[in-house]
Amino acid sequence: MITDVLVLNGPNLGRLGIREPDVYGTATLEDLAETCRATGRRLDLHVEVRQTDDEAELIRWVHEAADARTPVVLNPAAFTHYSYALRDALAMRTAPLVEVHLSNPAARESFRHTSVVAGVADGTVAGFGLLSYQLALQAIADLAARQGPATVVPGTVVPGTVVPGTVVPETVQTPQ
Ligand code: DQA
Repeated sequence: MITDVLVLNGPNLGRLGIREPDVYGTATLEDLAETCRATGRRLDLHVEVRQTDDEAELIRWVHEAADARTPVVLNPAAFTHYSYALRDALAMRTAPLVEVHLSNPAARESFRHTSVVAGVADGTVAGFGLLSYQLALQAIADLAARQGPATVVPGTVVPGTVVPGTVVPETVQTPQ
């Protein structure tokens, strides 16, 4: 079964190739997109790559992914470090989410050490250039395979999952 995946890229990533090549390399956004599509073909993923400099547009794409239960690989770029609106949109996700970065923000300026997105993602891959995206797609393929087909209607409870705020029977303490 082919799984649809969105690879979303935030601001300034459309300038890859000419943007600080010492940090981000010389591959263009189109090179990145082709690498992702080729990786997707190997993993049985249908990959669509998008980029925007606009926070509102990125949030609309995150909502679209949530509505369609589409897994997302996301490089939020600078939004990583301060966009609570993006973080809140991602918190509504209904499918796997992997955060990616070309560079390793942890080894750069201190303002890059915080990701407001990381806490709502399944995981983060950073520091490996285009390979970060390939590893993220591998993780998505794995997570999607574990979760099975997206047939669940939003708002329903999948057997075996715990709804936050509910009490799991095994953990109930009976008075002695
Ligand atoms: C980036 C890292 C961010 O700190 C930066 O603002 C970017 C790119 C990366 O891919 O390394 O725009 O997300």
